[in-house]
Amino acid sequence: MTCSFWQFEGGQDFLVKRHRLSSEFWLDTIRMMILGLETSCDETAVGIVNDNADTGRRILANRVASQIVEHRPYGGVVPEIAARAHLERIDDLVRQALAEAGITFADLSGVAATCGPGLIGGVMVGAMTGKAIAAARRLPFIAVNHLEAHALTARLTHDVAFPYLLLLVSGGHCQLLLVRGVGAYQRLGTTMDDAVGECFDKCAKLLGLGYPGGPNLERAAEKGDPKAFDLPRPMLGRPGCDFSFSGLKTALRLAVADRLTPQIVANAAASLQSVIADILVDRTDRAFGMARAMNVTPSALVVAGGVAANQTIRARLDALANRAGIPFVAPPVALCTDNGVMVAWAGLERLRLGLTDPLDTASLPRWPLDMLTGVEAVSGIQDGT
Ligand code: KG4
Ligand code: ZN
Repeated sequence: MTCSFWQFEGGQDFLVKRHRLSSEFWLDTIRMMILGLETSCDETAVGIVNDNADTGRRILANRVASQIVEHRPYGGVVPEIAARAHLERIDDLVRQALAEAGITFADLSGVAATCGPGLIGGVMVGAMTGKAIAAARRLPFIAVNHLEAHALTARLTHDVAFPYLLLLVSGGHCQLLLVRGVGAYQRLGTTMDDAVGECFDKCAKLLGLGYPGGPNLERAAEKGDPKAFDLPRPMLGRPGCDFSFSGLKTALRLAVADRLTPQIVANAAASLQSVIADILVDRTDRAFGMARAMNVTPSALVVAGGVAANQTIRARLDALANRAGIPFVAPPVALCTDNGVMVAWAGLERLRLGLTDPLDTASLPRWPLDMLTGVEAVSGIQDGT
């Protein structure tokens, strides 16, 4: 990634309204409006957000086209089907989002698109669409890391200040991070095997709950007894704050054997959900300790990613944060699962710092957060820290 830092018009003053972003672009930071495109997995999504000195930050459009119907027969996401579905829908979703926001391309300050990590065929659809709009309308382009988009959502919804402790739980990732600034992430722990969402999805499939696994399993758990099955809690109490989930699927299979009656399925779902919540709480508690050892006091505990939609997990993390005496922040469910608003917001945060990307930026199937260009100090100044 390359980045172009601002050249200030009239000195180093953050209140100056117009900034030269590059030889090509000027940026008005008093009124910013960003289009965000998300196509890295099974949701085609387009969002528009603005941050206006008068009206504050607002979500102007949030359009999500789910591919559940296409993938359901296969019990999971089929990358080729996903890429084609993104291609078929993205243009129309962009039109719908502009109409919902009541704006045209001429009102935009920049275009952001997820450029990784994710299923590469899908990522390329969103990235190419974003670049085409940016090129045609002569707008800055921002290549957004999907994980950073999840990580920064709480700043849009709850104005969370840096640094904060982030539990990022999605279909492909399970990480504990200290978010020190835009692009400045310190990983405290990660999964050694499966992601937590992957565990939900595989176990849901095993229980015959189908795709999408996480939400189906949460619904089934409502009628179950969380103490019915004594499942293992991998890594619980171990030093550090890494995770391991791959053994849970085998343990669950052995526990239920082939007796998949509705009550057994409900009990198994409730037991699994409860064990996963125990693991997440234990590891997050350890991460608090690690932050304290580094003399960092997080402003909040933030949970993000698709699994953050789970109400049991949210409640358990809320209780943990209460015990630790810091605020707990969970974005609204619709902004935890994949969406275009989070991409637009991450784009806005980056553009505000002068971080833009060339139109030949590659799409990446793997793109760890710690490879990002970081602007910790500048972000600190913005938050008054
Ligand atoms: O962030 P996300 O929408 O896509 C990725 O970036 O992976 O996360 C999707 C993951 C899936 O594994 C899905 O099963 C899980 O989030 N998920 C849930 C719930 N809603 C989505 N897991 C547990 N409970 C839920 N309510
Ligand atoms: Zn995601």
